[in-house]
Amino acid sequence: MYSTQWAQYFFTIPTITFILTVIAICTPALVALFLYELEEAHLRAAKPASCRKLGLSTESNLQNEFYPKFSEGQPPNSKEASPAAWRVKSIWIYPVKSCRGVELEEGTVIATGMEYDRQFSFAQLKDGPAATAQEPGKEGRTQKWEFITQRQYRLLATVKTEMWVPDKSVERYTHHAEEVESGGVVVLSFSYQEPGWRGILAKLRAALRSTVPEKRFRVPFNPSPAQIEKAGYTFEQMTIWKDTASALNLSVEVPPELSTYLGMSNRLGLFRVDNSQLREVYRNAPRKEELGYQPVTGFQDAYPLHLLNLSSVHALSALISSSPSPQSQSTIPPPLPLSATRFRANIILTGPPAFAEDTFRLIHIGSTALAVCCRTARCKMPNVHPITGERHASEPDRTLRRERAVDRGAGKGVGCLGVQMVAMLDGRGLVRVGDGVVVKKWGKSEYIPQ
Ligand SMILES: *[C@@H]1O[C@H](CO)[C@@H](O)[C@H](O)[C@H]1NC(C)=O
Ligand SMILES: *[C@@H]1O[C@H](CO)[C@@H](O)[C@H](O)[C@H]1NC(C)=O
Repeated sequence: MYSTQWAQYFFTIPTITFILTVIAICTPALVALFLYELEEAHLRAAKPASCRKLGLSTESNLQNEFYPKFSEGQPPNSKEASPAAWRVKSIWIYPVKSCRGVELEEGTVIATGMEYDRQFSFAQLKDGPAATAQEPGKEGRTQKWEFITQRQYRLLATVKTEMWVPDKSVERYTHHAEEVESGGVVVLSFSYQEPGWRGILAKLRAALRSTVPEKRFRVPFNPSPAQIEKAGYTFEQMTIWKDTASALNLSVEVPPELSTYLGMSNRLGLFRVDNSQLREVYRNAPRKEELGYQPVTGFQDAYPLHLLNLSSVHALSALISSSPSPQSQSTIPPPLPLSATRFRANIILTGPPAFAEDTFRLIHIGSTALAVCCRTARCKMPNVHPITGERHASEPDRTLRRERAVDRGAGKGVGCLGVQMVAMLDGRGLVRVGDGVVVKKWGKSEYIPQ
């Protein structure tokens, strides 16, 4: 009965209406499917050939970083902490200084720190004082490239980096691929929508993947002399803090949209460490005779490796929440709890009591020996949210200055958190998440300022 009624009803609908209805229902789905496939094909085509992307395929090892159990340290029973209690929690590399990092399950320690860490830095072209004042017509002569960080351009925090490394197990691997000859590729991306219909299309495609449209560009990780010549890259002087270092100018690869995105009026450039002229590390670091080699660094601020104890971050969060903000700043709540990722350490530990790392002199992680040079003196950069790039007006800088000005050498009112290290190496060392941490030598340190 039912089916005959339905059939009668069905045949009373004019065919044309029926067809239009079907089309109306199916078209959006078909368009969506088409766009999705288009995006997939686009992403596949953008993958660097013969390479594998570094990084975790699962959730971050810090996704439970706020658990209270990480607040309490386990004091070492003897001179050595039990390796069962003190462990590596999370490992990070930041291929491009001040940009988003890549979290690893294991990493390699080399003379310059973690392999692939801080090998690139953005820079801006600045007028020297003489150019603007005395010789306005000749600014070209006194302009210089100066590195930039999130301190000046907070949105660098939202520029994503992918580190692609050659991998023989990748399908269609070829030894002579450009990507292999350059030792891999760094892919950078930032949120960007082209004007016009292309932009709208990109937005729709991205929405299907619950993301936003992005502009992507890539640079060779370590271009060979032939590649340098072909691309026309040149070695230039770039200023980083008080040093001026030789660096490879890859600015030609940077899309102009990025400087607009960052809100920069100066020219934006991208530079790579010059492997033949690495910055040497003295001051607080062990001497060459002790290490067996002269410690060097890439575009890290001063030292190759940066270690942080997760409980120290919890302790700082607690200090911030227990101290009321001054009236003038009370409208915006402090950014609590603080994520350890704000401090951009390479190796994050759990186990030791807060700030215990201050007194480490020599530690072993797995089979890698690391000498602690000094505490990490902090600037205001951790006030920038590591994901959104929002900057808090005062925290955690204010509390760090008040509670953690613990190092006479670093100066009055300079907050310290975490420590700087160099590896005691004979070649390469491996560090893995879960590795035990053993402190071999304890002692006081005092920062020797630059
Ligand atoms: C760096 O490269 C860019 C783009 O190729 C070029 O315009 C600029 O002059 C170079 N910088 C220096 C200091 O040579
Ligand atoms: C890590 O911090 C916790 C809590 O602040 C502290 O008890 C512990 O000793 C620290 N451990 C290390 C290795 O620094």
